[in-house]
Amino acid sequence: MSTIETVISGVGSYLPKNVVTNHDLAKKVDTADEWIRSRSGIGQRHFAADDEATSDLAAKAAWHALDQAGLKPRDIGLIIVATVTPDRTFPSTAVYVQEKIGAPPGIAFDISAACAGFLYATNIAHDFIRTGQIKHALVIGAEKLSCFLDWEDRGTCVLFGDGAGAVVLSGEPAQTAREPRGILATYLSADGRLAPHLYADGGPSTTGTVGKVRMNGKEVFRNAVEEISGAVFEVTERAKVARSEIDWFVPHQANIRIIQSCAKKLELCESKIIVTIEKHANTSSASVPLAVDAGIRDGRIKRGQLLVFAALGGGLAWGSALVRY
Ligand code: UT7
Repeated sequence: MSTIETVISGVGSYLPKNVVTNHDLAKKVDTADEWIRSRSGIGQRHFAADDEATSDLAAKAAWHALDQAGLKPRDIGLIIVATVTPDRTFPSTAVYVQEKIGAPPGIAFDISAACAGFLYATNIAHDFIRTGQIKHALVIGAEKLSCFLDWEDRGTCVLFGDGAGAVVLSGEPAQTAREPRGILATYLSADGRLAPHLYADGGPSTTGTVGKVRMNGKEVFRNAVEEISGAVFEVTERAKVARSEIDWFVPHQANIRIIQSCAKKLELCESKIIVTIEKHANTSSASVPLAVDAGIRDGRIKRGQLLVFAALGGGLAWGSALVRY
């Protein structure tokens, strides 16, 4: 058993100023507030300004997380940004964040696992920390999805928003006198055979363009319910924790009906779920840390509570993490 625990020492988030309601969208897309709300639970989304890059959103979320952790950029040895909307094809968005917050030279890279990206990044940072390679890591999910929405495809363009969420993960010595803290178990998976259900139809080595989001909503929905629930079962089993002990389920915010179906399968009461979809829409890799931050800042999530994060998206890729906050 590792003698170092990976604890969440700070959480922060950032949403761009521009709020676009369903009614606003209905002025330029053939849609209606009633359809969007009833099918997805979304009421509004935030869109970044033209001159606001993903690294700007990420850096602002990072500052809030550092502040809550009581740490300075100089304390950070690893920055991972999970994103499908990087500032540039290369270098990584993480190095721009490093430069923008004034963090010293250290490890910095991006993860491409779409909506599951934050969980992939968390898992990797956890390994760096528990093996003693670094003490503090910034793990950020940040997206400017508005830059590759197809406004002619009403089945996708109404579902997404921009934003960033960040956590500072820190290594602390484990103490046998008390129950384990921090990340208790993680689980990741992906199935490339399902890639045609959710992807961007562009890329540097294929079209030379960024592309637009393409989605087979029904297939993604079905897989999301199955795999998000399965991923929660997996981490509770790995950590030998009963699902009834979970204080907060913090799922990816893609569709309220997916979240409710997962809760039913997991026999989790809906009052134990952090839901932000109405205000944030689907922000891909940013959605889980944005929701965690919302739950902490409104006082629902408290230190010592048991949290489970889970997400599925493009890949299809999915994952979960069980955390004693
Ligand atoms: O973050 C990655 C994970 N993503 C997800 O998990 C998304 C998963 N999928 C979903 O959330 C849902 O499948 C959607 C919200 C995308 C769609 O819900 P649905 O209940 O599967 O609706 P649908 O695709 O079957 O569309 C039904 C109808 C169609 O009309 P007809 O053919 O029945 O007359 C669509 O043309 O709704 C129509 N429609 C719309 N109407 C108004 C599709 N988009 C819109 C729209 N406004 N924006």
